Amino acid sequence: MTAEQFTLLIHPTLVVISVFPLIGIVCYFAWETRQRRLQIKAGEKSKIPPLVGKNHVEIGKWLSTAVVTVSLIGLARPIIAKNIVKNTLWATNTFQFIFLILIFLFTIITFILLFRARNKLWRGIFATLSGMGVVILGCQDGIFRRTNEWYWSHYYYGVIVTLLMIFSVAIIDDIYRDKSLKWRNIHIILNCLALLLFIGQGYTGARDLFEIGLWSPPPS
Ligand code: HEM
Ligand code: HEM
Repeated sequence: MTAEQFTLLIHPTLVVISVFPLIGIVCYFAWETRQRRLQIKAGEKSKIPPLVGKNHVEIGKWLSTAVVTVSLIGLARPIIAKNIVKNTLWATNTFQFIFLILIFLFTIITFILLFRARNKLWRGIFATLSGMGVVILGCQDGIFRRTNEWYWSHYYYGVIVTLLMIFSVAIIDDIYRDKSLKWRNIHIILNCLALLLFIGQGYTGARDLFEIGLWSPPPS
């Protein structure tokens, strides 16, 4: 295995040991939260402890942080290897080089501020800005986007699911405050879609390891 192939494994390794286990825990608590709410609504006594909702949200915040982190690493590797180093960007296009570093920092900082914001307007602003950071980084040279086969592209699934995780954090208070359940239902629909996209990431990511170059024929 070459050094470049090794760096290609950093992102999948982190996903497997952090994101997928967290998805399991988040979904377990999501199901319990819903069952408890529906049992109480039907006037039954629920055996599910009241803390399940809080646990879902706490682990959900970790999930969303893990997804944003692994996506930034997934984007950084090809940008560094196939754009910055390949074109010696710091010497040939210093402006672009500094711009890329600033966008990475901007995305991380706005995502941290999203957790700190209390007011609805600021949460909307920071969610939009960190989402924009991910999209701008995704548009850079070096990233294998598979646009001609967008319907099973690891890149498009990855960016969409990252935006959905950012959105979930942004609407936490709206889900709790809204008595009409509108935000709760929007959350359920979007995150069931996110779950399908996560499954798609398992398949498309493993496939891309072959296509982007981890695989080399065994010595004969
Ligand atoms: C795969 C990801 C996720 C799925 C499938 C999912 C699904 C669900 C479901 C089914 C519920 C229960 C709704 C009901 O009462 O009927 C729920 C509640 C909720 N979710 Fe998620 N969710 C996910 C991730 C997240 C994330 C990342 C966050 C934000 C950090 C989040 C925040 C919330 C909140 C605030 C509630 C209300 C909890 C309560 O009632 O105490 N969820 N979610
Ligand atoms: C939650 C799951 C995942 C998310 C959100 C995610 C997200 C991303 C993103 C945004 C990129 C950059 C765009 C691209 O090159 O396609 C990427 C790259 C990549 N991902 Fe994932 N990914 C996930 C799971 C996986 C898994 C399970 C594998 C492998 C088993 C994998 C393998 C790769 C590979 C090989 C690349 C290309 C990296 C490069 O060109 O250096 N990903 N991922």
